[in-house]
Amino acid sequence: MKKLSTVFVLILLLKISPIMAQNTQAKILVLIHSDNGGTYELAKEIASGIESSKTASAVIKLVEESQNSKLKNIPIAKVDELPSYDGIAFGSPVYFGNISTGMSRFLSKTVDLWTNHALEGMPATVFMSAGSGAGKELALQAFWNSLAVHGMVLVSNGIRGTESINKAIPQGNSVLGVTSMASLKDVERPTKDERGLAELQGRNFAKTALALKGTFARKQSVAATAASSEDINHLLKQKSITLPKVPQPAGNYKPYVRSGNLVFINQVALKDGKILNPGKLGVDVNEEQVKEATKATMLNVIAVLKDAVGSDLNRVKQCVQLTGIFNTKDDYTKHADLMNTASDLTVEIFGEKGKHARATFGASSVPVNSSVEIQAVFEVE
Ligand SMILES: Cc1cc2nc3c(=O)[nH]c(=O)nc-3n(C[C@H](O)[C@H](O)[C@H](O)COP(=O)(O)O)c2cc1C
Repeated sequence: MKKLSTVFVLILLLKISPIMAQNTQAKILVLIHSDNGGTYELAKEIASGIESSKTASAVIKLVEESQNSKLKNIPIAKVDELPSYDGIAFGSPVYFGNISTGMSRFLSKTVDLWTNHALEGMPATVFMSAGSGAGKELALQAFWNSLAVHGMVLVSNGIRGTESINKAIPQGNSVLGVTSMASLKDVERPTKDERGLAELQGRNFAKTALALKGTFARKQSVAATAASSEDINHLLKQKSITLPKVPQPAGNYKPYVRSGNLVFINQVALKDGKILNPGKLGVDVNEEQVKEATKATMLNVIAVLKDAVGSDLNRVKQCVQLTGIFNTKDDYTKHADLMNTASDLTVEIFGEKGKHARATFGASSVPVNSSVEIQAVFEVE
């Protein structure tokens, strides 16, 4: 009887531990404006500090689109999504002892969140990239002013980490948040120590965010609720859909090309470096094997798409067209059945946005002896 109850408790623990793991994860937004990429460099360190504990995840987003090639694949944050996080790390360049115009423009769009108390009690921390560093403390303080009006819980750095930095050169340590002084070219900026302080700031911030998770009212606007419930990156995790590594091109071409808002992708059934279920349907492989290869091919397409949208699949507006080419005998006619595997997967992931126009046809051969090739066109933000 005792043994039986031990087994029961074990089963119960196994069942609830994934749920508990989910609840003990803090989801943190690293929200930045950056002109030249200095703030982004600090943001990456902040994000890595946040994720170092394995109890928090970080996503870096921009407040507005950037033409800078270092920044243009970073997703853009929507104002309404802010309340869906457990904490926000804000980063901006210093502009005349203040936050940058881009950050200011974004914050001025948060009036509805403010009057709905939507960010009250949520932890926030700030970091900044400066030029010479003139007025950097004023700028950090100015950042705090706006966030204090939102009622956010401001997490400072204090003198954390400053004992171990190289004091022979100017460093961007500051008690309110880390900075970097990009125009001081004595060493590469951010310096190793500034990066280390940013990492530490992220690490400490994750602890606070996790501790406060669930303690503040998330008065989300309707749009925010919808946004979080439709989070496609989250949905993939929920459905245990794992995207493969982006297959590398085998010739003088790119995995995807973006033209305007359209992304063009072509993939075959490459899985773990080999073609899955290769050959001709009815000769080398059966329909089930081709369906399996079709699913692998579509996952490759979506992995490439994720790359094209800076890792945020929420930026996909529509799957416009899928074309499935199958390696079949001349008299084969059920291409549509095979292609449904790809179409169903696309709709499962993207919902209405996954519904597409479609073409299928048979070919006497397909490159690298794949049983299938998929050509895809997506509209993205
Ligand atoms: C309008 C403007 C005002 C600036 N004011 C300051 C300032 O007061 N103090 C300072 O140290 N740097 C100042 N800078 C320099 C930026 O803070 C610096 O270039 C920063 O590294 C840019 O960050 P980013 O690389 O993320 O774009 C200013 C830059 C601009 C464009």
